[in-house]
Amino acid sequence: MSKNVEEFEGWLRTAFVEMNTELENRYFAQDARENVVGIADPIKHQIRDEGHQYVVRLLAEGNTDEGFDHAFNLLGDLGLYMASLRRHELTNPAKEEKSPFPEASALGMQIAASVGMVPRFSTAHLATHNQAINGRQKSFTSLNDEYLFLDYNTRGIFAFMRASDALTRILPIGISHPVALTLLNDAANALRDVIKYNDCLFDELDTDRFFFSVRPYYKPYRVGRHEYRGANAGDFSGINEIDMLLGLCNANDPYYSQLLVDKMLFMPPADQASLRDCMRRRSLLSQFLDVAEESAKEPWFIENASAFLKVCKLHGATAAQHHDRLVTRFIEKPSKALPAEKLTQVTASGPPLEVLLRSLEVLRDMRLAVKRDDIRTSYNDIEKLKRYIGEK
Ligand code: HEM
Repeated sequence: MSKNVEEFEGWLRTAFVEMNTELENRYFAQDARENVVGIADPIKHQIRDEGHQYVVRLLAEGNTDEGFDHAFNLLGDLGLYMASLRRHELTNPAKEEKSPFPEASALGMQIAASVGMVPRFSTAHLATHNQAINGRQKSFTSLNDEYLFLDYNTRGIFAFMRASDALTRILPIGISHPVALTLLNDAANALRDVIKYNDCLFDELDTDRFFFSVRPYYKPYRVGRHEYRGANAGDFSGINEIDMLLGLCNANDPYYSQLLVDKMLFMPPADQASLRDCMRRRSLLSQFLDVAEESAKEPWFIENASAFLKVCKLHGATAAQHHDRLVTRFIEKPSKALPAEKLTQVTASGPPLEVLLRSLEVLRDMRLAVKRDDIRTSYNDIEKLKRYIGEK
């Protein structure tokens, strides 16, 4: 790590966190907690100006020969800085045609192009690749609710990754292999962990603190001329690999393929590669149905197909839990309590709340294989497989 990167990172792990925390506490102490404008402006300017000094030095230094890990890490650090400027309304993409921070934008674009990702921080920076030093991971603030959110996101993401890893390993050995059953059970257990961690998050996270003091750091912002949506816990390939390997979502579905294209550059390159690979595979659901006619009475088929259906059910349950519990409690309800003019830009991805909720609902119903006339789900195929093994 170069001296300039080390100094920037040192600042980001200390003074930056303290200043953001102080600002959050000031905003939160108001009756109208969503109000940011005119509050503690000298602190906001201090964040902007101190960060700027590091950015200018880094830009002059160039970051061409430090290797992927350092470039990826610096991209995240820069992203945290820019997201904080956005959160404190020192920039707002709705009011500007380009970012008012040309040096930070130039540095971000330079690194992003070399790494192969969007020029902003993404989930991996704060979750799967967030290195703790002496017990402390990177964050915007030192608020307990931010740590809760980050840590449970990270646990959930790793659990989804374990499930997708187990399912991927079935591909070379085949669905009739005795060990395929072990892998299906591994995937089921990993999804049970997702459910457990989501339950903990639901019980422990404070709604107002999350909504007013954590979520605003995930707003879209501009880098150069373009606006980039905020990060969300879904920006890793494992969740989509599970979708497609199970056969609950299909890469040739227009809605779903759009989602894949949109999220591709928000993921680290290794995830991008594994997602691409997965898009070319035949789903396990199709593989079971391919041989169902001749094998439905075989003990392996009955056992493995039952375990497979259990995994599908659990995956659906994680999606229902995300939408019906987490999104409802932590986003939908507090949004409805806000005045209409403050509602815009509540979400990380940018679209208006109803649009966002509808699209998350579509994903939930695909994963639950619900019978719907307006979108394609795997309802018929799942029911067919159930009939083959005599399940209701
Ligand atoms: C996307 C809310 C925690 C997985 C989203 C989106 C929202 C949201 C609103 C849509 C994109 C956006 O605007 O951000 C929440 C809330 C959470 C939470 C309020 C808790 C307080 C989690 C956790 C996971 C997760 C713990 C599991 C790792 C996902 C996934 C997506 C997503 C996979 C992408 C869409 C999809 O494929 O379903 N989340 N989320 N979220 N979130 Fe969460």
